[in-house]
Amino acid sequence: MNLTVDKYRLQKEIDELALITEAEPPIVTRVLFSEADLRGRDFVKQLAREAGLVVRADAVGNIFARWEGSDPKLSAVATGSHIDAIPNAGKFDGVVGVLGAIEAIRALKQSGFRPHRSVELIVFTAEEPTRFGIGCLGSRLLSGVWAPQKAAGLRDRDGKSLDEWRQGAGCAGPLESICLPKNHYAAFVELHIEQGPILERENTNIGIVEKIAAPSTLRMQLTGAGGHAGAVLMPDRHDAGLAAAEISLAVEQAVTGTGSPDTVGTTGVFRIEPGAVNSVPCRALLEIDVRDTQVATRDSALAQIEAAAVDICRRRGVALEVDRLNVDPPAICDGSLVETVAAVCRLLEISHRKMISRAYHDTLFMAQICPSTMIFIPCRGGISHRPDEFASPEQIAPGVRVLAQTLSQLTGPPATI
Ligand code: GLV
Ligand code: MN
Ligand code: MN
Repeated sequence: MNLTVDKYRLQKEIDELALITEAEPPIVTRVLFSEADLRGRDFVKQLAREAGLVVRADAVGNIFARWEGSDPKLSAVATGSHIDAIPNAGKFDGVVGVLGAIEAIRALKQSGFRPHRSVELIVFTAEEPTRFGIGCLGSRLLSGVWAPQKAAGLRDRDGKSLDEWRQGAGCAGPLESICLPKNHYAAFVELHIEQGPILERENTNIGIVEKIAAPSTLRMQLTGAGGHAGAVLMPDRHDAGLAAAEISLAVEQAVTGTGSPDTVGTTGVFRIEPGAVNSVPCRALLEIDVRDTQVATRDSALAQIEAAAVDICRRRGVALEVDRLNVDPPAICDGSLVETVAAVCRLLEISHRKMISRAYHDTLFMAQICPSTMIFIPCRGGISHRPDEFASPEQIAPGVRVLAQTLSQLTGPPATI
């Protein structure tokens, strides 16, 4: 098959999407259902339609763009990623897997390939946790890992519900309609930047993901007693900010004490109220991200953090509420799909290695309903979740070629899976 990937067209589209942002470019911020997120979705839907795909969306805004196969009764092969971006992000996280998939489909079409099974691009809603504190919202619901009732209870920091947000964004239908049956897809393959330093350091073009580390998130709300910064003497204080500061240090201590270098913990949200220099903080909100490739060490760190928080707040006379927003298992990718991608890399003479993903992805949940894996490409310095995140057209193009060839093998006649 003669696959021609137009890396400059793809780069132009990545650059265009990066300009749709809530922040000043080159900073990309596209929080779920913000005006920028909605405009970004329109941009992608338009490209998908121009590529001849049939576009629909579900009740939470997951977008599906389908290239109908010659046997539409067969389960489709899916690919895709996300376009939402955390505050102060770059332009490649998620986007490479969405716009790269459209380019892969265009390359396949141009080569004359016609799929037997349908190919479906999925643009997942809220892979990032910014709006509701929970990552992979779209794929959690689509895979049935989260029941609709759980999502119905979600509220953002201002108390606005998921229902209010999704209706405002034009998402129709009940949350119950989102879950897809286990045999709905024959396979799922997600293209993504590595978000780590290994591929660049080893000068390898492609990483094939065998496992995704287990993520978890704690939300802690602390209520102390506020007061005048001059008048309330130190022994009389119940400072929620200081309790929060101690808890953040306890997170570091817990994750560095598991004996595994794979345990990581981040207090990424730290807000104190009322936020006046001359007022003792009366409330604090923490969101704490704890991950590991092994569940046992992740869970022991979580338990240690929760116990430390209870002790710290008791000692300081601060009330504590803890929510485990998510405690997910790791994903084990499908061995035979990993081998299929490795064989494609060999066929295309593209260097590759197998690897673990320390970041989470929608593949974590797609792996629950169909054979799944990921294709990683290098990014500069392994940097991600920062505006200076970078992958060159020359680094992206091999990923798109491997994705296109993999899709052709999984969907082409005769059906190989
Ligand atoms: C995904 O963005 C993650 O935080 O791993
Ligand atoms: Mn991300
Ligand atoms: Mn991502």
